[in-house]
Amino acid sequence: MNDPVRFLQALGQALSVMTLYPEGHPSRERLADNAYDALLELSTAEAPPAFTFLEGEVIAGRERVADLRNWEWSTRLADAGIGRLEFSRSINRDEFEGLLQELQLHLFPAPVESSDRRQMRDLGVRFGAVSVAAGSGTGTGDGTGGGIGGWGFGAGGGSGSGGAATDLTAEVETLTWIHEEVSAGRALPLLEAESVVRSLAVAMHLDAGMLLPLLQLKEFDQYTTTHSLNVAVLSMALAETLGLTATEVRAVGVSGLLHDVGKTRIPHAVLVKPGRLSPEEMALMQRHPVDGARIILHGDADLELAAVVAYEHHIRIDGGGYPSLHYHRDCALGSRLVHVCDVFDALSTRRPYREAWPVTQTLAYLEDITRREFDPALVTAFARLMRDESTRIERLDATGIADRTQDLGPKS
Ligand SMILES: [Fe+2]
Ligand SMILES: [Fe+2]
Repeated sequence: MNDPVRFLQALGQALSVMTLYPEGHPSRERLADNAYDALLELSTAEAPPAFTFLEGEVIAGRERVADLRNWEWSTRLADAGIGRLEFSRSINRDEFEGLLQELQLHLFPAPVESSDRRQMRDLGVRFGAVSVAAGSGTGTGDGTGGGIGGWGFGAGGGSGSGGAATDLTAEVETLTWIHEEVSAGRALPLLEAESVVRSLAVAMHLDAGMLLPLLQLKEFDQYTTTHSLNVAVLSMALAETLGLTATEVRAVGVSGLLHDVGKTRIPHAVLVKPGRLSPEEMALMQRHPVDGARIILHGDADLELAAVVAYEHHIRIDGGGYPSLHYHRDCALGSRLVHVCDVFDALSTRRPYREAWPVTQTLAYLEDITRREFDPALVTAFARLMRDESTRIERLDATGIADRTQDLGPKS
């Protein structure tokens, strides 16, 4: 058994037994010792240990761990908002106990008294949503993908105290980095995209009802990042209300996140141009669905839905839009769904030539143009979702922090 597998399995056993025995119980201590010993062995390796947890997948460093495919703890940790566990220095046994308790608190929110909680700030270990920031933290900058560095607790990795403001700074940084990677001609970092989506999904379900953390554009050149995160959130919310499975909802989320990835091929000056585009510029702009599908398929053939959505998200229900199809056919459900959320977010966002539209006005407009543009059933479901009292929109500024100057009340 190799070292990461040994450590993670021992960690899983230690976490399991913590729900059964109090601190100091011999069984609990023995399993914690085992996990700590395995961590020490692992820490002698070159790079500091770092793990990413997805549903049924574990990534140690940047390698998928085949032996831990479908390992139940990767799903449990990821579902608890712990998409990433990273050690920046060696930690002592006492600090390791603090880590176990903190993880337990996230996995099983009730059992540990808050007074027992340790401060993680100086423990040399962080966990939470994945954050990737080129040139910071442990990023190597050696051209192998920028490395995983900066940290943030996303919404799912917060203190667990409830009521805390949503913080999507890590997700904003990660998506910015993903776009930079693609712009630089490197492969689409799929795992990080999946982690962002999982983290958004956790943020949406911290309370009863559904929370929609939506970013507000401040600088116009941040448009693709803020817009993509918003479309991911809205698309997942709509997919969920339609009764899609959790796996399908996340696939739709990845599709929403990546629907405009083709825009990374458009010259910056064209993207942020305030006035009307020339025919040549318009042609460049309209290439982004085809470019996006290519980028996604090149990155990972498993992302078929995301590639299809990138290709189809500007095609209208009446066959108009772009790219033009030789034969009229229905687009995939994911594409029709992302299309509605895409237009909603575009209209709800301030542009150089107009202010952001209020939610009520945007919904009325979508309903008005439904017949030629959208799948009517999806617009109906989307409008119902947005008008539902239990749906709460939280406005975040473009860095991903809740904007408390905004009225969080009515969705006007
Ligand atoms: Fe687009
Ligand atoms: Fe878009």
